[in-house]
Amino acid sequence: MIQLKDIHHVMYRHPDLQVIERFLIDFGLVVTQRCEQRIYLRGTGAQPYVYIAEQADEPAFGAIAFAVQQRQDLERASELAGASAVYRLNGPGGGEAVSLTDPAGRRIDLVHGLAPLPALPLRAALTHNSALDKRRLGTAQRPAKGPAQVLRIGHVAIGVADFKQALKWYTEVLGLLPSDLIIEGSKDNPVAAFLRINRGADWTDHHTIALFQAPQDRVHHASFEVQDFDAQCLGHQWLEERCQVPFWGVGRHLLGSQIFDYWSDPSGNLIEHFTDGDLCNESTPTQYTASCDSSLYQWGPQMTLEYFLGGRTTLKRPNR
Ligand SMILES: [Fe+2]
Repeated sequence: MIQLKDIHHVMYRHPDLQVIERFLIDFGLVVTQRCEQRIYLRGTGAQPYVYIAEQADEPAFGAIAFAVQQRQDLERASELAGASAVYRLNGPGGGEAVSLTDPAGRRIDLVHGLAPLPALPLRAALTHNSALDKRRLGTAQRPAKGPAQVLRIGHVAIGVADFKQALKWYTEVLGLLPSDLIIEGSKDNPVAAFLRINRGADWTDHHTIALFQAPQDRVHHASFEVQDFDAQCLGHQWLEERCQVPFWGVGRHLLGSQIFDYWSDPSGNLIEHFTDGDLCNESTPTQYTASCDSSLYQWGPQMTLEYFLGGRTTLKRPNR
């Protein structure tokens, strides 16, 4: 079995790199390297990039990449049916990779050996005074205005035409574990799955890949972690003031508990800020929830049908 360490980056193809670069900077990412065909962007963590924007005639999803624990995991992966040989990455930090293809033909890269960069300065998380537990004494809350600093990529949600086949591949080939399954009728009829990385006793995000039954295969959104609730709200305000298109948020999901905020990027893809998500480990049992609207969020703006349709949106972008 291949041992994954964490999700590493996503790659999207965009028709206008200048426009997407401006958006992603306002979203809270930082450019590591730019060339004619590609822009590599990072969070505040040590990874040299968490997002690759690639030049293309039409918007398209490119790949999801996971870091593996050891180089042997790449060698093992290269022996899978349809896998590439181990090859060298030519982006910042170097490293090596193997490319796989999931049942829908989506490219899944496994990467290893990228040289880390020094972490970027990050605003400390705010100390909150709850009603009966006052911890901030004699100091004020003054988080600075600006983009929500992105720390890392957290997960990708994918609509799949053949749910059972996708669930089998992601759990058997990548070894992901179901934290939550949304079911219709009975436990043996899941229609959505929140899958986490198998990190044994170590705590890991409630989900790294979310799969849900959909009319067609489409990446629904990629999600990036920010420092705290104020970062999320200040980041929301920052993007709104720059006439970007809010999609859904701010609210709190049910399964995974993240505070969420979705945006439509200039190419029409959904991208999410999240904070305060649940963590799971080997002692966390799989939970089953009946499919209903309330399985998606606890509070927030009313969910629209467009959220379910996902992917490219038809929302009007205000003039700048
Ligand atoms: Fe999400």
